[in-house]
Amino acid sequence: MSATHRENFGSSFTFIMAMAGSAIGLGNIWRFPYMVGEHGGGAFIIAYIICGVLIAIPCFVCEALIGRRARQGVVGAFRKIAPGSGWRWIGGMCVLTSFVIVCFYSVVGGWSLDFLLRSLAGKLAGGNPEAATGVFSGMASSPVESVAMMAAFMVITALIVLGGVKKGIEKFTKLTMPMLFVLMILIMVFSCLLPGAGEGVKYLVKPDFSKLDGAGWAAALGQAFFSMSLGMGTVLIYSSFMKKEDSILGSGLWTAGSDTMFALISGFAIMPAVFSAGIEPTAGPPLVYETLPYIFAEMGVDAPVLGYAITLAFFLAILTAALTSSISMFEVCVEHAVEQYRFKRWQAVLAFLAPGLALGVLCALSFGPLKDVKLFDKTIFDLFDYASSNILMTLGALVFVLFVGWRMKKADVRDEITNGGTLRLGTSVFNVLYFLIRWIIPPAIIVIFVSNLLG
Ligand code: PHE
Repeated sequence: MSATHRENFGSSFTFIMAMAGSAIGLGNIWRFPYMVGEHGGGAFIIAYIICGVLIAIPCFVCEALIGRRARQGVVGAFRKIAPGSGWRWIGGMCVLTSFVIVCFYSVVGGWSLDFLLRSLAGKLAGGNPEAATGVFSGMASSPVESVAMMAAFMVITALIVLGGVKKGIEKFTKLTMPMLFVLMILIMVFSCLLPGAGEGVKYLVKPDFSKLDGAGWAAALGQAFFSMSLGMGTVLIYSSFMKKEDSILGSGLWTAGSDTMFALISGFAIMPAVFSAGIEPTAGPPLVYETLPYIFAEMGVDAPVLGYAITLAFFLAILTAALTSSISMFEVCVEHAVEQYRFKRWQAVLAFLAPGLALGVLCALSFGPLKDVKLFDKTIFDLFDYASSNILMTLGALVFVLFVGWRMKKADVRDEITNGGTLRLGTSVFNVLYFLIRWIIPPAIIVIFVSNLLG
């Protein structure tokens, strides 16, 4: 994506598909269920939906309208709209955020790759549910295996970004996304029918608000940002290719809607099986990867061939969903180096890949040999995970909102949201949104952010 050749996305459908490709990923399938488990089940889901509707969707609108207005990458966008101001430094923060995410995301992407290879070898749908929950710890504690898989995932991401074969991958996701969706629903139904699954369903639908503290709200907000890829430039960059006639708010609603639906389905696919298998819901990052082998082993008990096929299709789908997300993060880093520092593309890719691999190793080993190395009571992996969404993305989104609410001209904001008055949004919708953007969202983000730091 270069600044000089900004071709438009062919249609709004393509734009929404690309956005959904970035949004739907491990954040929904892996991160959401484990967050729900750590923060008290149903109450967290409610907090997540409130944060999504009242904060994340307007944040999406802000980030997208900056991108479409400027038709530039992150730094270029701020240079163009607010020349000579300090706002452009946010570009550096976006790069840092994307880079931090790439490091730990590749570990989980690597787990998916590992599980795909295991299922290819027929070792996952084996029909032995008791042993299945141990598969994850076996893999994660093997330094060679987890490091190799992390590295493979990161290198594949880098090669896709380098080779500009994103288009090919996006075509592929048109096939795998619907497949993932269907499979998740299937798994959800299966999981809810497992013995003892009722407890898990109850855990999700019966909110226990006493468990929802400041940290829970901060996690819900951070999860909403993480899952919708907000606050770190992806939405801005993608929107710089968006057509003038597309509705920014409409795209935000579609992205948020499909993303949240995926997350909820994942929650209901995983949590009942967690209870059925007797896994601790608070197990943290490993939760989903401890649970999936159990689900597939149960499937394989009665229908080995079907179980095998579903397992294989599932991990292929999850791996491509993870890749479309990781390439969108890597792209933010590379685009920045190419646009701002005139790096050649391969130089930019290498400049991020080398340190990314080094830090990725530390994140991967956090589940094995380095599991007792802790900073602020968190392993290296947890620290990266936490810092990206609860701190960096939250601050990034705050800056975008402040910029739109307080730095841009109101007429320009209205122009982008209503497409020059051609969208029949109704003035009241714009007014409510603008009021939220100026007066409600910034203080809300600050209160949640600060209460989390103090708590
Ligand atoms: N939203 C992606 C997911 O849910 C993760 C992501 C974050 C992608 C930030 C791009 C930018 O997996």
